[in-house]
Amino acid sequence: MIDRETLIAAAKDAVARAYAPYSNFHVGAALGFADGSIVTGANVENASYGLALCAETAAVARAMNDGRRSELVAIAVTGGMKGVLADPVAPCGRCRQVLSELAQLGATDPVVWCVGADDVGEYRLSELLPNAFGPASLL
Ligand code: THU
Repeated sequence: MIDRETLIAAAKDAVARAYAPYSNFHVGAALGFADGSIVTGANVENASYGLALCAETAAVARAMNDGRRSELVAIAVTGGMKGVLADPVAPCGRCRQVLSELAQLGATDPVVWCVGADDVGEYRLSELLPNAFGPASLL
């Protein structure tokens, strides 16, 4: 089981590791797995602006490079300008698709906590990306 406050704290910690000198929008993401483990990521920008990697995508790449293919049960995302939290941060469309791949591999529908300074939005990944394309679509 993944504790909500623990996962949110991990996402907030990850914000501090963002490399976002161009947008100044620092994002942290934390993926929670059924065994209680957590994998984090932060956004990584590039002088060629369009090449920015989002925090959630960085976290998924890290988890999959650790060999994880299943048991993604919870996701927390947060951040803000210069790392100061304000409105809850929702995963961008591309990240929803990237997160969905790992979720579908393990047949889970993770809870997604979109965290701001004062509010936390709670969704299921399937709500954020209904009728998702995925591995089964290619069978
Ligand atoms: N960003 C993320 O890391 N995750 C999202 O879901 C939304 C956007 C990053 C990309 C870019 O480095 C910065 O936020 C501003 O768009």
